[in-house]
Amino acid sequence: MCGIVGYVGPKQAAPVLLEGLSKLEYRGYDSAGVAVMTDEGIVVKKKKGRLSCLSEMIDGGAAIHGTMGIGHTRWATHGEPSDTNSHPHLSNSGRFAVVHNGIIENYLKLREYLTKKGFEFISETDTEVIAHLFEYYYKGDIIETMIKVLSKVDGSYALGVLCADNPDSFIAVRKESPLIVGLGEGENFIASDIPAILSHTRDVYFLDNNEIVVINKDEVKIYNTDREEITKEAYKVDWDISAAEKGGYEHFMFKEIMEQPRAIADTVSPRIKDGKVVLDDISLTADYIRNINKIYVVACGSAYHVGVVGKYVIEDMVRIPVEVMVASEFRYCNPIADEKTLVVLISQSGETADTIAAMREAKRRGARTFAIVNAVGSCIAREADDVLYTWAGPEIAVATTKAYSTQLTAIYLMSIYFGQELGTLPKEKIAKYIKAIETLPQRIEKLLENKGDIQYIASKYFSAKSVFFIGRTLDYAVALEGSLKLKEISYIHSEAYAAGELKHGTIALMEEGTVVVALCTVKELFDKMLSNIKEVKARGAVVIAIAEEGHKEIEEEADHVIYVPKCDALTMPSEVVVPLQLFSYYVSSLKGLDIDKPRNLAKSVTVE
Ligand code: G6P
Repeated sequence: MCGIVGYVGPKQAAPVLLEGLSKLEYRGYDSAGVAVMTDEGIVVKKKKGRLSCLSEMIDGGAAIHGTMGIGHTRWATHGEPSDTNSHPHLSNSGRFAVVHNGIIENYLKLREYLTKKGFEFISETDTEVIAHLFEYYYKGDIIETMIKVLSKVDGSYALGVLCADNPDSFIAVRKESPLIVGLGEGENFIASDIPAILSHTRDVYFLDNNEIVVINKDEVKIYNTDREEITKEAYKVDWDISAAEKGGYEHFMFKEIMEQPRAIADTVSPRIKDGKVVLDDISLTADYIRNINKIYVVACGSAYHVGVVGKYVIEDMVRIPVEVMVASEFRYCNPIADEKTLVVLISQSGETADTIAAMREAKRRGARTFAIVNAVGSCIAREADDVLYTWAGPEIAVATTKAYSTQLTAIYLMSIYFGQELGTLPKEKIAKYIKAIETLPQRIEKLLENKGDIQYIASKYFSAKSVFFIGRTLDYAVALEGSLKLKEISYIHSEAYAAGELKHGTIALMEEGTVVVALCTVKELFDKMLSNIKEVKARGAVVIAIAEEGHKEIEEEADHVIYVPKCDALTMPSEVVVPLQLFSYYVSSLKGLDIDKPRNLAKSVTVE
């Protein structure tokens, strides 16, 4: 996600902020900015593009004089990457400057409210409402103002705020988005991530939700929202810089696996209002949806696998036929697409060459395009008729995990929305599905807690020559992703098969010690999967089964069982994929491979 750095001390702030932000560049960003308290008030400088562009603009920081400031690297969510949308944001009078990570879910309502009160909005961001709220509620006491502002905003945030009336201190807070305080000698810092301040201090406070900090060069005071002062123990960071970049984990892939509950919550919660799915930016009308005769889902790699799950989900909820196609095929297959066809494009980067070409081909044929994209302002996001963003934040590991999971979530949201607008989904079902996706983060947390079991299983089979993934319907769709993940990062030959299709050829490959991962979470097909497990066991295979909690009978057939929490069938793929990601990760780690940068692969494939 975005990066935050704040500084107050004896040094010139701007160079310190630039240096701190440079330590956060690895996270990905599209613009950067700083706000510094100067003798003439708060000075803000910000620029789209690399940090070096900002640095050049302010002469490495030398162009702004002042010893306190806040800085930010932005990864666009609301509003495209641009100078105006980058942070810090100023209130209309220039008294407040704000940097923000996270998402303000009720920003549209607040924007409307503040506009009526006469505030002028300059950017398209959700963050700007915070700057204006500060201005609106400020009566001379910054802590009181912060408490008031927090009571008005919903969502996730890490905030750093400068107030021109307080030339020696600034204020910060967090909820659901990380923020730490760095404690120096005669200087103090805030940062969204440890690497930003590690060259200055190793003593930090990890802030908890809604803890408000007031920071000057000699002192850090922490308050709760009742304005009671809190004492906190400082933590000594003993990680080196490269471990710190990965949040203390060994690899980005693991960090991103662990970030999935948060990423899913960020994608879902702003879109659920009063028991309904609300897709503010989508212009598709119920009339248009009613006339759709066919939906294509078109994508590459893991995003294509999301489409395979999507076919089951969309057809079940919306009752419109869905065809899933890899983009490199779609563009050349003379697809039957016209103005009654909706083409859903799924892409993390929004820059995959084949997916872009497929989108243009679909448009050429008169079809309407609907993109599920992670990178705001990317080519697909700009050119598609509608965009539903997955707010996964930047993904650095080549093998996707949190982008895949949030894409699945976007498919659920889109399907519920269509079903809701068309009236094909009864109210009770809408409520049930919404509950299922809102509670998904907790269930994934639970799965992640049991990662040790998967590590143990991986330790037994990491030298396998070949691994098969089998499942039926939705489980088959997830098997495709499990198998791709394993081959991408462990270089083990792997195939995914619809379990019923095994006997038409692939079963010939089963022999003593072949590893089969059998996904058995589709309730009505559980017995069929037991038979498939028996078939492969009879040929000497070792079976790792994934089943829903409570299906104990599987222990008699499989060599190992990984249980996933009970949940609604259509959202089960989001759970099942997690142990498969962990399995691949641990296998690759045990083989000592370059997990984050596997051979021959690129994160974003921008050539055909
Ligand atoms: C590459 C990546 C995959 C990704 C695919 C599609 O192959 O390694 O992880 O699924 O491209 O990328 P996109 O950015 O369009 O989702």
